Amino acid sequence: MSDWTDCLNFGLKVTKEASEIVLSAFHRQKEVKLKSSPADLVTETDQRVERVLISAIRDKYPLHRFIGEESVAAGERVVLTDEPTWIIDPIDGTVNFVHRFPFVAISIAFAVNKQTEFGIVYSVVEDKMFHAQRGRGSFLNGERQTASGQTDINRCVVVTEIGSERDDLALSTMTSNIFRLLKLPVHGVRALGTAAVDMCQVATGGADGYYHIGMHCWDIAASALIVTEAGGVVMDTDGSSFDMMSRKVIAASSSAVAVSISQVVQAFPCRRDDEDPARCVCGAAGVTAVNGV
Ligand code: IPD
Ligand code: CA
Repeated sequence: MSDWTDCLNFGLKVTKEASEIVLSAFHRQKEVKLKSSPADLVTETDQRVERVLISAIRDKYPLHRFIGEESVAAGERVVLTDEPTWIIDPIDGTVNFVHRFPFVAISIAFAVNKQTEFGIVYSVVEDKMFHAQRGRGSFLNGERQTASGQTDINRCVVVTEIGSERDDLALSTMTSNIFRLLKLPVHGVRALGTAAVDMCQVATGGADGYYHIGMHCWDIAASALIVTEAGGVVMDTDGSSFDMMSRKVIAASSSAVAVSISQVVQAFPCRRDDEDPARCVCGAAGVTAVNGV
């Protein structure tokens, strides 16, 4: 019976190696394509990093399965079985990457029997390696980390993202959620532009809460374990159990803060990641140079 430590160590190694591709492209001009919306971007580097990661992992573990953001964008289905599965976001924070805003991450979760066994989030420009293994704690650059334990929503820094949806319902829901949180009040609302790194802030204790609607399983599967292993909690925005496919998540320092956020936040309808085979067809794709980047 494996404890999957070998896979974790291999995941850490290939993540570090692949991060060199991201770093070396960070300051270069990028060719940008649009996916589901004008704010849902992909570059050749996203695709290359995913190919490199999957090919290295598949060479070593030929029977393992994969869910990768860019493979799904290219038409693959999101199917999480009981088999060992690597859930990969090659660049979380692609808009940041395109604009050289320095929060971009490689995020890898590894699930067996639909349970996440380990999670890796590497914030490449910051050189911060977050990881957690189920039952073995949560770490930042090898040092144990713990959530703040805060229970009072009025004393919280809450992180969120506006996301890439640009329809009226999504935008009005997102902005009114922020308004309602600020009115509670909370100490502050923050957004780094990468769901994976945002959520890891709860694991460090630097933020006390996080919520997001519309992200995907590859954005948050790894960081969800990184938060819970740091003593935090994760749940759906409607207060039900965390479901990495539901595209709605709260992460918090305590159950009390998670419940407080769930009482404020409203969701707009999102198709589950594992529901729609044609979720992310790049039909509206165009090629745009962004600000000379
Ligand atoms: C996005 C980022 C962003 C979040 C979006 C995600 P990507 O991921 O995590 O912060 O708001 O919902 O899709 O496209 O940069 O991998
Ligand atoms: Ca991505």
